[in-house]
Amino acid sequence: MIPDKVPEQDVILGSGDLKKDAHIPTFEKYKELYVNSVENPEEFWGTLAKDFFWKTKHTGQFFNYNFDVTKGEIFIKFMEGASTNICYNLLDRNVYEKNLADKIAFFWEGNEPGDDLTVTYKELLQRVCQFANVLKSQGVQKGDRVSIYMPMVVELVVAMLACVRIGAVHSIVFAGFSAESLCERILDSQCSLLITADGFYRGDKLINLKLLADEALQKCIDKGVPVKKCIMLKHLSKVPEETAGCNSPPPKRSCPDLQEKQAGKVKKIRPVPQVPWNPDVDLCWHTLISGASDECEPEWCDSEDPLFILYTSGSTGKPKGVLHTVSGYMLYAATTFKLVFDYQPDDVYWCTADIGWITGHSYITYGPLANGATSVLFEGLPTYPDVSRMWEIVDKYSVTKFYTAPTAIRLLMKFGSDPVQKYNRKSLKVLGTVGEPINPEAWQWYYNVVGEKRCPIVDTFWQTETGGHVLTPLPAATPLKPGSATFPFFGVVPAILNESGEELTGPSEGYLVFKQPWPGVMRTVYGNHQRFETTYFKKFPGYYVTGDGCRRDEDGYYWITGRIDDMLNVSGHLLSTAEVESALVEHKAVAEAAVVGRPHPVKGESLYCFVTLNDGMTFNQKLESELKKKVRDKIGAIATPDFIQNAPGLPKTRSGKIMRRLLRKIACNEKDLGDVSTLADSSVIDQLYQNRCCSAV
Ligand code: WT7
Repeated sequence: MIPDKVPEQDVILGSGDLKKDAHIPTFEKYKELYVNSVENPEEFWGTLAKDFFWKTKHTGQFFNYNFDVTKGEIFIKFMEGASTNICYNLLDRNVYEKNLADKIAFFWEGNEPGDDLTVTYKELLQRVCQFANVLKSQGVQKGDRVSIYMPMVVELVVAMLACVRIGAVHSIVFAGFSAESLCERILDSQCSLLITADGFYRGDKLINLKLLADEALQKCIDKGVPVKKCIMLKHLSKVPEETAGCNSPPPKRSCPDLQEKQAGKVKKIRPVPQVPWNPDVDLCWHTLISGASDECEPEWCDSEDPLFILYTSGSTGKPKGVLHTVSGYMLYAATTFKLVFDYQPDDVYWCTADIGWITGHSYITYGPLANGATSVLFEGLPTYPDVSRMWEIVDKYSVTKFYTAPTAIRLLMKFGSDPVQKYNRKSLKVLGTVGEPINPEAWQWYYNVVGEKRCPIVDTFWQTETGGHVLTPLPAATPLKPGSATFPFFGVVPAILNESGEELTGPSEGYLVFKQPWPGVMRTVYGNHQRFETTYFKKFPGYYVTGDGCRRDEDGYYWITGRIDDMLNVSGHLLSTAEVESALVEHKAVAEAAVVGRPHPVKGESLYCFVTLNDGMTFNQKLESELKKKVRDKIGAIATPDFIQNAPGLPKTRSGKIMRRLLRKIACNEKDLGDVSTLADSSVIDQLYQNRCCSAV
């Protein structure tokens, strides 16, 4: 499956410098280990597991699973019976056994240039233990779900690892999601506690997070399921005196008077949000922590105990709570981080993702900390205060490994090479991308301009569900082809199937599936195992179905061609057509809606929505903005539609199914619709072309 020989033309070989110390220095080495990882998973992962602390050894089968729905329930169990604690492995072990107590875990870089701080492994451990004790004092127990809705601050890592330390299950909701989305996720995972912050700035824009959190909590009350407590971190504010209960000042930075102390360094001191306070529910992070001990015995958890839930869009419109478990996820996040970024002890690593997405879970928190790495944790935006910000940060911290998304690359590429070249990027060694296929033009710019033709690009394909990279180059070993995620990671066995479920060999294109589990694969959809089986295992029994299309070329390289289900990928984030449609039809003017993706030069895809109005309703600009707002309020800003088109009729099959394939063409003004023989009423087509949104040329 992996080619014996790699082609020499059309490929880009990684930097020779890397090879000297690389963990996987050659393609031959990769192949040798790959074969072993697939044929002897116990030996392969068992060796890697020796690097971690186990309170007790595994008792059951090392890797036990059923991947075939026709043979019974789907299950994946890895190192069952072994017990460990991830927080212990990420922090205590680094502090006490690996001599990394004073090593910097994070360089925190705030939204405002100059607003920064550092946290060492020892400090992180102390803060995590304190907060773990806080959680315990609030009655949080092993297995309880805790919802976290926070900006990109060190305390977000503290909160998540404090959960892990006591065996509680974190469910992090990206702080860009709406109150409605937060409420839906809190209810689905039956969280007993919410952790949030007063607010934060994204560039110039204040996000009043506590207001949104309160709105979500009110919605939970309205649905009859109140959340008991809400812990609020003061990131920006000094909460007014009258908000009794949260008068302790936050430590170190974050409140305006401390920012004033940094005067000269921080240019802007911004207005502080007014924070509502409900003494029955709200608790102050700083007050709680001030009395808490910084010692907390970790809770030993079984390998297959739940670790966290992270929601991802589902094709029915209701988000799925992807559940990951302890040992397999830890080993997989740690190993992929180490090998895919070729982590070395003196690295300064920076992943620009938000911890609210899986990329941040695996490659800001779990993978880097498991390796004792130093990372940058960035709160801000690539374009604030200007489009050089990323390169300024790379220069400031001498970043060696840099991981971002194609959408960010395309955005910055528009401004040319000057903003990049203003700063020194000599420290960079490896560049990574994730989230969507990277177009060759963006790849070349990233490679030539950002990496000065020196740094291999690891185009990492994976999903919330896969826990870590599944198709990816290894920087010193894999000859690269721009736009290809190249070959499988260790333990991963991909295949390409046709519509009838037959495995295709050689150069081919079809459904990307995986034939056997790897340690980091999700275990279930929280509270709905049947949905897990139906979504990923039913279509092609015996395989995990990714939902992505894929091509394998004549050299055996894999190329992701994009989603082949009803999912949209906006700036590397998945949305389902159904969830946007259901937000639109909630508006009283809308009878029916159909949403498709339209290619977008920066975002990859943007939302183009067709709406059929109820009788007597008129389509105008006011309605258009109301509908956009509706979607934003329901889901979050990333889902804001770019176009809304009036569609008195939608193209449907005789059985009433909307033909989105045609709508995708109409959205792009493509005239060749292909086969329209199944269309029930072809007269709607002309009308749809006439009504196209004029700005969508
Ligand atoms: C979907 C998963 C994994 C973290 C970010 C998104 C697309 C992801 C790539 C890549 C082509 C990619 C796929 C996948 N995707 N990485 N390197 N090349 N497509 O996580 O929200 O779970 O989305 O993102 O379509 O299925 P997610």
